[in-house]
Amino acid sequence: MANRVVVVGSVNMDLVIRVPRMPATGETLAGTGFTTVPGGKGANQAVAAARSGAPTTFVGRVGNDAFGRRLRRSLDGDGVDVMRLRTDPEQPTGVAIVTVDGHGENAIVVVAGANGRTDAQDAAGAFAGAGICLLQGEIPAAAVLGAARLARAAGCAVFLDPAPPDDLPRAIWPLCALMLPNAREAEALTGIAVTDAPSAKAAGDALVARGARAALVKMGHAGAVLVTPSGATSVAAFEVEAIDTTAAGDCMAGALAAARAGGASLAEAAEFGAAAAAVCVTRAGAQPSLPTREETLRFLRGRRGAI
Ligand code: RIB
Repeated sequence: MANRVVVVGSVNMDLVIRVPRMPATGETLAGTGFTTVPGGKGANQAVAAARSGAPTTFVGRVGNDAFGRRLRRSLDGDGVDVMRLRTDPEQPTGVAIVTVDGHGENAIVVVAGANGRTDAQDAAGAFAGAGICLLQGEIPAAAVLGAARLARAAGCAVFLDPAPPDDLPRAIWPLCALMLPNAREAEALTGIAVTDAPSAKAAGDALVARGARAALVKMGHAGAVLVTPSGATSVAAFEVEAIDTTAAGDCMAGALAAARAGGASLAEAAEFGAAAAAVCVTRAGAQPSLPTREETLRFLRGRRGAI
């Protein structure tokens, strides 16, 4: 498999507010901090893949504004190929209001802006010689499906992180070499409530029965279950003190894709992704929290050494 990862997806400026607890409806609450950091599920995955060692291309759109220019510089600074990051003439750069509470849990509101104008044709030609196309659900569903078709036609494996899952057409499932939903997304897609390993396996089986070649159903700190037509494997979670879970799923997807494109088996890549996500949640912010390959390997060595 070629080792380039192509991510087609969203890029946002995250407006991050720290609060002691989530506000109730109608309540005014004093926040404890405010920062702007690069985010967006697609861009987070691209940075995670690049920091994990894969040559990475990002396909998406920003607006012609200060946030867009800062996000382009930031991706470029991480070594992500931004030749196919378009500046949309009509819409502003996407933004996300990210509220993080004292337990590190978050609530996010996204305004898509230029992400909403991403088109599958933006990715035309991007997949030649690439190994993995990584997709999510924060751009129009037609763009996700169209990019998956282009990727498959170019012989590239499609990995889909169905976040958010709402509009994604089922036609995309048989195009996927791997789907990696979290518990909530797996339930939205299959109707199976994921509460433990057996129900995660049942949801993964349902995704595979409907055409995906493999499914990794994630349960946060309870680990994940990798389902293929030949059986299921548990992926253990690493216990860490979480201070901010923002982008943990993106981190896992990008790091996993990089490891797989670099020749790891799916199970090995899933473990590498889980370790990267464990490092990610110990740091604040979306892209600032994503570890390098060396940081993830050091973490894994520390954990294995401790056993
Ligand atoms: O998954 C985290 C991301 O979701 C944030 O960076 C935010 O931009 C939203 O897209």
